[in-house]
Amino acid sequence: MGIIGKKFKTFFTLLKKSEIREILQTTTGYIVRVIKYRLDELDVDSYILGRFKAKIPLKCKIANSMDMQLLFDHWPDSREEYERHYEVYYHWGFKTCFLFYHRDTGEVVHFCFLLTYKDCPRIQRFLPTKKYIFLTSNSCAHHEWLYTFEKYRKLGICTQATDFIIKFCRHNGIKKLYSIRGASNVPSIRYADKVGYIPIASIYQIQFFHQKRHSGFYILKRLKK
Ligand SMILES: CC(C)(COP(=O)(O)OP(=O)(O)OC[C@H]1O[C@@H](n2cnc3c(N)ncnc32)[C@H](O)[C@@H]1OP(=O)(O)O)[C@@H](O)C(=O)NCCC(=O)NCCS
Repeated sequence: MGIIGKKFKTFFTLLKKSEIREILQTTTGYIVRVIKYRLDELDVDSYILGRFKAKIPLKCKIANSMDMQLLFDHWPDSREEYERHYEVYYHWGFKTCFLFYHRDTGEVVHFCFLLTYKDCPRIQRFLPTKKYIFLTSNSCAHHEWLYTFEKYRKLGICTQATDFIIKFCRHNGIKKLYSIRGASNVPSIRYADKVGYIPIASIYQIQFFHQKRHSGFYILKRLKK
């Protein structure tokens, strides 16, 4: 074997060692990161209400500013999640938030936001617009930032909560609901499949050198119906 052949052999032997592979993976991950999302659609009129029952009794309320202040003042989960949702309401100004209370104890157990057509200027200002290209009229809305507090997960709360969102949509002429979730977010995917969200597109967020949360560029790939 010639000198070049020997050098390649040494290189591949090194590459087989897991530490070297890990270093390479970490380095590549630092340079470029691809995050995949699923964009889903739900037909409001054909949704059947009353199919799912959570293991605790629920009460729903559209939040006012005092309710939101109480929610953040008594936030039981991590600081990271607090900041993520605080930003949505206070910095970006998305104000249509549904709060779900344990009917017996009055504790907030779940919440979610609805982005309507009138939120488009805020979307353009603060969010990656490619994710919201289907929000084109008053007859559609985005169902986003669904959150069940950790203590109450896997009790069917998010699933049953959909009934309240659907009722709101029907009263407000919203016919199509859209929703975006990380393609690897198993609880969220299972929830979406269960209530009948249909995937209509994949979105790829491509980030370089650890860009911030929404930065990077986005590619949308429509799925065949
Ligand atoms: C996604 C989320 C809102 C689901 O809330 P939830 O109230 O626990 O959901 P439900 O109890 O109604 O469960 C819905 C489905 O997901 C499944 N599920 C919930 N948590 C799960 C987990 N950790 N692993 C696997 N499946 C899970 C449930 O089993 C159920 O499916 P099944 O009935 O077929 O078994 C919750 O996990 C959460 O707040 N996650 C953090 C925030 C987030 O990722 N939000 C989604 C952004 S779109």
